[in-house]
Amino acid sequence: MAIGAAASGFGFSTQTSTVGEMNRGAFSQDGNQLTFYHDQIREPFKVMATADTHLFRDDERGEPFKAYSGRMAKAYNQTRHVKTGNITNPETCFLETLAIARQEQVAFVALLGDIFSFPSEAAIEWAEAQLKESQLSYVYVAGNHDWHYEGMEGSLESLRRKWVNNRLLRLYQGGNPLMQVREVAGVQFVVLDNSYYEILPEQLAFTRRILRSKRPIVLMMHIPLYAMGRKVGYGCGHPGWNAQNDRSYQLERREQWPEKGHSATTFQFYREVTQAPNVLATISGHIHEPTLDLINGMPSVVTDANAQGGYLKLFFAPSGKG
Ligand SMILES: [Fe+2]
Repeated sequence: MAIGAAASGFGFSTQTSTVGEMNRGAFSQDGNQLTFYHDQIREPFKVMATADTHLFRDDERGEPFKAYSGRMAKAYNQTRHVKTGNITNPETCFLETLAIARQEQVAFVALLGDIFSFPSEAAIEWAEAQLKESQLSYVYVAGNHDWHYEGMEGSLESLRRKWVNNRLLRLYQGGNPLMQVREVAGVQFVVLDNSYYEILPEQLAFTRRILRSKRPIVLMMHIPLYAMGRKVGYGCGHPGWNAQNDRSYQLERREQWPEKGHSATTFQFYREVTQAPNVLATISGHIHEPTLDLINGMPSVVTDANAQGGYLKLFFAPSGKG
C-alpha cells in the first residue's frame, strides 16, 4: 500500500534511507533543483528534465490535419513565464531551457512528453534542429498530446504507434519509443512511454530487469505515478482511473478510458516500482504544476510546464561529497 504525502515548495529534504535492503540514498529539493546523493554514484553530474513545451508550429503540410489540430494549435500560443511573470511562448521557453542546459553542462536533457501539442512535421523538425544545434545529448519520450490528433478514428494504442512511427521517430535517435535506459556514472535512467496511462507487458519486463540490478534508478515518464489523495490525472496506477471518471474524452475527442480501469500489468508495475529499494525518484510532467509526493518514501516529482519556462535541474553526487 502506498503511503502518500503531498508537499510542494522549497527546501524539502530527506535523510539517507537504508531501512533493510532499502537504498535510495538522500534527496533534497530547492525550488526546481533536485539533488540526489547515493553511495553508488561514481562522480557528480547534472541532468535537465523538462516536459509540456506544447510546441505548435505548423505549415502547409499540416493543412489536411487542421480538423484534428485546431484546438491544441491555439492552446498555448502565449504563455506567462513561471519565473519572470512576463508574456512568453513555447518556442522561446524551449530555447531558453536548452541554453541553460548547455550552461550547466548537463549529461543529457530528458524531454518527457507533450513537447508537441500535436504531431506537426514543422514543429518536430524545428525542435530537432534546435536540439542538434545545441549539441546536447537528449532522450525523448512521448506524452498524450505528441501523437494525438483530436477526433481521429482509432484506439489510443494504434494512434500512438502510427504517429510515433510516421512523425516522431527521428527524435528517438534509434532507441525504442516505448522504453529506453541510459546510464550515467552508475545511475540508470529508465525512460518509459505511459502516454495513455497504461504500462505494457514488455515495459514491465524491461523495468523489472533493471530494478533487479540493485543499482540506483531514476524513472522518467510523462504521466506521474498515482499518489494517495491525488486526482485521476496522477493516473499511472490510480485506482479510480476508468471510463466513469474520464472527464475529458469528449473535449480531447479520443477513445474513452477502459470501463474496468487499469490493466493488471499497470497495477503490477506500480507495485514493483514503489516497493523497489533502489528507485531514487520518478520524474514526470503532464500536470503542468510543480509537485512532489512521497510514495512509500519514494519521491515522485512533477515539473512545471516548459511552455511557461518550467524545467527541473537534477544533481547527482556520491554520498558525503555533495
Ligand atoms: Fe501537457
